[in-house]
Amino acid sequence: MPVWFGGDYNPDQWPEEVWDEDVTLMQRANVNLATVGVFSWARIESREGEFDFAWLDVVLDKLHAGGVRVDLATATASPPPWLSQAYPEVLPKTQDGVRLWPGSRQQYCPSSPVYRRFAARLVGKLSERYGDHPALEMWHINNEYGCHVSHCYCDVSAAAFRTWLETKYGSIDAVNAAWGTAFWSQRYSEFAEIYPPRSMPSFPSPTQLLDFDRFSAQELLECYRAERAILRAATPDIPITTNFMGFFKPTNYWEWAKEVDFVSDDSYPDPADPAAPVFGAMTRDLVRSLKGGQPWVLMEQATSAVNWRARNAPKLPGQMRTWSYQCIARGADGVLYFQWRQSVSGAEKFHSGLVPHMGTDTRVWREVESFGTELTTLDQVIGSRVSAHVAIVFDWDSWWAVEQAAMPAQISYLHTVFEWYRTLYDLGVVVDFVPPTGALDQYAVVVAPTLQVAPDEAVTNLADYASGGGRLIVTYQSAILDENLRVLDGGYLGRLADTLGVRVEEFAPLAAPDLAAMGATAPVPSIQLSGSTLGAFEGTEWSEYLRATTAEVLAAFIGGPLDGWPGITSNTTGSGKGWYVATLPDAGARSSLLTGILAEAGVAPVLAHPIPGIEVVERGELTFVINHSGETVSVPLGGRDILTGVTADSTSLEPKGVAILSRS
Ligand code: GLA
Repeated sequence: MPVWFGGDYNPDQWPEEVWDEDVTLMQRANVNLATVGVFSWARIESREGEFDFAWLDVVLDKLHAGGVRVDLATATASPPPWLSQAYPEVLPKTQDGVRLWPGSRQQYCPSSPVYRRFAARLVGKLSERYGDHPALEMWHINNEYGCHVSHCYCDVSAAAFRTWLETKYGSIDAVNAAWGTAFWSQRYSEFAEIYPPRSMPSFPSPTQLLDFDRFSAQELLECYRAERAILRAATPDIPITTNFMGFFKPTNYWEWAKEVDFVSDDSYPDPADPAAPVFGAMTRDLVRSLKGGQPWVLMEQATSAVNWRARNAPKLPGQMRTWSYQCIARGADGVLYFQWRQSVSGAEKFHSGLVPHMGTDTRVWREVESFGTELTTLDQVIGSRVSAHVAIVFDWDSWWAVEQAAMPAQISYLHTVFEWYRTLYDLGVVVDFVPPTGALDQYAVVVAPTLQVAPDEAVTNLADYASGGGRLIVTYQSAILDENLRVLDGGYLGRLADTLGVRVEEFAPLAAPDLAAMGATAPVPSIQLSGSTLGAFEGTEWSEYLRATTAEVLAAFIGGPLDGWPGITSNTTGSGKGWYVATLPDAGARSSLLTGILAEAGVAPVLAHPIPGIEVVERGELTFVINHSGETVSVPLGGRDILTGVTADSTSLEPKGVAILSRS
């Protein structure tokens, strides 16, 4: 198997004369995989029940003749206008009851039996027609489930939500108990009284909201499962995937990853964002972790600019290659793009493609062609693994809960996780992500940032990990609520209070930073802390009245009403240790704290002294060295660079340069 290279191919946007040139150019660039038909429903079935596959036959035959494998899409992502004309109930509704009409894409209610029936029929036809086609390599179900319509509030969804609740709870009394409806006169006497959390006068019931988030993610997953069942029956040996979107809030990818044969992901970091390489790395680490480290495929990225930001920066020369190698270094076995030929009409005509508007005499095409050719030499990477000794606990329930209204403060869950990740990245440490109940034994250090929702199994998992010899770091707003968003029995932290040797008495949040800014460069309110090993430093986002019971106090708040109260603690528990952090320490303090803990745990980065802008990741027998900076950098790592064949004691990387050193 080669490293996959290619992208979304939409020949139905072009006259047939262009198709031969497409295949010729694909061969020039060593494209070996094309995702075909993602948005072709209206072309395949232009009227109800009238199917035209002749054009698609030609496309698949041409690709096959040209040696390009096909990732065949099920085309269900964008229903044709006739569907909602004939069956208006398939159109989704927003929280305010506004219908979303045809004219763009994804205008379907995920719970709609009509949508699901027509989608199933289309998938059945596609699998009958192409199940045996020699070009078929894999199935690509739908596209970015939930990217535009993740929650639908229509009557069809309301009925489906009630059914989902009945299955989950069994009785209306159980719903009342779980949702805490004794509050504000919310008690239900029958399921028919329950609605999705449509616009309401004040704060919605938190547990109704959370259950609706869970339900909505499940409904999308049901759409996927229904299509998968048809494909699996028709072609049991063809792998099936659907493209994820990294840290995408509406869909709990821990659940989804169990359902795909391999994980594929779409990723569009902003070239204008200095933090993009770090956020990119964090996303790759999540995506790799979703299926236990199994190699994944980057299903979509841009060759250069996208068209959906307020201002769309092109990628710098070489940046497409460095970001692609970041994916491969962190576990990808393929790098694909949206889309092959840049559109000349429609809403994405200013989105870059592999073949730009200006043709092949362009720097984008030259980069595509040379990168595609380079990838043909990388077969040895296929299937190899990345191993991490540090894990961050990541949890969709906590993400949904922590960002609800009526909380102690507005906290961005992703920003908090990112800040801890960024420190580990800067220290040169590769991270796995784990769900709260995931296996932790293989990790020397586990960080649980703002894990607000912690059912018994999660609390026990973390407590057992620490007492069994692990090193556990827990931050503020962790283990506050159970799975129904009820304050934990025994108070904040539940059983983790003993693990960590602290009691959280009362919250004292600081004002929120700019929630949109990943880099959090805006000045934000801070609080002073100091400790003998950490010195003086600042905390942002949070402070609280924390009492150490058995823990040692490593740093305390200074000044103001919290003067002298503990801010960072450590506690011995069984044969391990637990740290509690009651603020978001500044970068220096996070770095000092983690450096100490990593050293104690025996975790060392590949590069003893990490160099800013240089990313070093080991995958299998290869060490990827990536220069994100604009400078030429000498890196004290030697070996044979498999890209150049040169063996040296150290590696000099030009701006945006990459070396892949063989250790065997
Ligand atoms: C997503 C979609 C593609 C395209 C790109 C543009 O990833 O899946 O169809 O719209 O965004 O960036």
